[in-house]
Amino acid sequence: MATVRILQLTDLHVFQEPEVRLKGIPTRELLEDVVRHIGEAGETFDYVVVTGDHTHDELPESYQAVRRILGPWLDRLWQVPGNHDDRSVLRSVFGDRVSGVGRDRIAFSFKAGQWLCMGVDTQVPGAVPGTIEADQIEWIRQQIQWANPDRVALFMHHPPVDVGSLWMDAIGLSGKELLQDLFNTESRIQLVCCGHVHHEFSSQVGNAKIFSTPATGIQFSPAGSQPAFVAEPPGYRVIELTDEGFSTTVCRLPVARFSPVP
Ligand SMILES: [Fe+2]
Repeated sequence: MATVRILQLTDLHVFQEPEVRLKGIPTRELLEDVVRHIGEAGETFDYVVVTGDHTHDELPESYQAVRRILGPWLDRLWQVPGNHDDRSVLRSVFGDRVSGVGRDRIAFSFKAGQWLCMGVDTQVPGAVPGTIEADQIEWIRQQIQWANPDRVALFMHHPPVDVGSLWMDAIGLSGKELLQDLFNTESRIQLVCCGHVHHEFSSQVGNAKIFSTPATGIQFSPAGSQPAFVAEPPGYRVIELTDEGFSTTVCRLPVARFSPVP
């Protein structure tokens, strides 16, 4: 198979009003910076995956802004929601790019060469922590059985492991043990890409290498027991899938143009 290149964007936190800032960070402007930076670098991708928190206010106008900014990639866009998302509003704007209706979970599954790529919805409506339920584990197992891929990549908002940040782990994923059991028994699951924690982190359970990815907007400190924001540039993740496995790297814009305020 030819190398499949995937761009992961996460935690966009776009507001309805373009100039509104999140802790001093103009999230919409920085998302535009990221898309422009990738375009100017001449980077091309077979797929683009957004792992949630598309907006901060969950309003239709905010999703429409995200859709407009991601316009170049609409034909290859896959998405899962985060805690800062409203499934039905997301669906009303991206209805041609997500399956299901209303407040149904938003998940996806597509084959990329010998890889199966799946999006898992970890959202609990109205709550910050996420959850994974037994029927979702069964869905993943069924998809793998039907597609019979050599390797599997999962995309989700909440990481399926603790990341060592006390305040983030307190708003992490309930039921993560179900996923960890799956990783320990299904060796074809080799890559898991997440968001939610707004910083780069990696771990491994079974054969599954687990990565979190910096936000396109505000960056969190991985340290400490209280929320802390850091002046690091916006980031995104590039993933390359091949017959032999995968490689992945976090890219950041050259400079942090804005500093967060407490
Ligand atoms: Fe977020």
